[in-house]
Amino acid sequence: MARLNIALGQRSYDILVEAGALGQVAEHVAPWTRRGRTLWVSDSHVAQHHWPKVEAQLATAGVEAHLHVVPAGEASKRWAELARLIDWLLAMGVERSDTIFALGGGMIGDLTGFAASIVKRGCEFVQIPTTLLAQVDSSVGGKTAINTAAGKNLVGTFYQPKFVLIDPQVLATLPAREMRAGYAEVVKYGLIDDAPFFDWCEANGGQVLKQEPAALEHAIVTSVAAKARIVGEDERETKDKRALLNLGHTFGHALEADTGFGERLLHGEAVGVGMVLALRYSARRGLCDAADAQRVARHLGACAMPTSLSAAGVTAGGAELVDHMRHDKKMTGGTLPFLLLHAIGQTYVAHDVDLDDVARFLDEEHRRGA
Ligand code: GLY
Repeated sequence: MARLNIALGQRSYDILVEAGALGQVAEHVAPWTRRGRTLWVSDSHVAQHHWPKVEAQLATAGVEAHLHVVPAGEASKRWAELARLIDWLLAMGVERSDTIFALGGGMIGDLTGFAASIVKRGCEFVQIPTTLLAQVDSSVGGKTAINTAAGKNLVGTFYQPKFVLIDPQVLATLPAREMRAGYAEVVKYGLIDDAPFFDWCEANGGQVLKQEPAALEHAIVTSVAAKARIVGEDERETKDKRALLNLGHTFGHALEADTGFGERLLHGEAVGVGMVLALRYSARRGLCDAADAQRVARHLGACAMPTSLSAAGVTAGGAELVDHMRHDKKMTGGTLPFLLLHAIGQTYVAHDVDLDDVARFLDEEHRRGA
């Protein structure tokens, strides 16, 4: 069990990591229960697994629980579902002092957080993430968003939750592939600025994926502590600090765009390949040792994750992949900040990356059959 705090002045909040916490959900949400009732948002899969237990506990505690169900899947992070959610909140008579509970993965957290930030000009919300990816990344830090026809996460807000409740035991119902995809984001924290944690991942990643309780909790707590520290220093990504969390995401985003942002290549899988590409590109520029790239690829490969363009099912050439990058929302003044590495645990933001050179690199990666 660990209680962490994200220090953001008046917007500070706690993140509780506790195995079995969902079993005491009524107690944990009591400080945010208003007028004897609670408003919940979940997706069709998560609600099936967890809602009966949550509802029963709240009923025992004498708290009314109302649930809005969003169809499962990234496709629900869109205007129409946002409108449906807001209409439901208004129909429920939501007041500014109400708290909205997001029970689900990244899609539910992003959609609910966005709705909470705009309904009645802002209501409180609490995150209860149910995927590893949401537990170690998206539920913490206050990024909310929906996707539009122009791209992913292009409309949203920075809006911090009041509390994040993480129960590692809820991952027991998560498909193994999603568990692995979330684990890529765990490894990311080692690569950013914590080489000893990457060593730990190499030794214990198998145990994390098997959900051995102590290893899983250590992986989650270390990741959340790193994220809390980084967001505490640069909440709105203006100082080249929070941007470090985007390691693997620029390459990864292009791979996701090529594979349709869906089941063919999950977000975490794309980030895993993207981190290997960031290391390989850094080595090509003489910034880091090629052995570091091999080491990370070996670890992710040992965890049954794709580590190359071909394994990710990417067929587009360098120019096409770079074209996807040019539409990235981080593009400023014609340049795209890139996360490169001097070594494992030494990531930095490079502002001098020539996208034509990245396209040549990606074509080389294709040619080497990687
Ligand atoms: N997922 C990256 C961030 O929260 O900044």
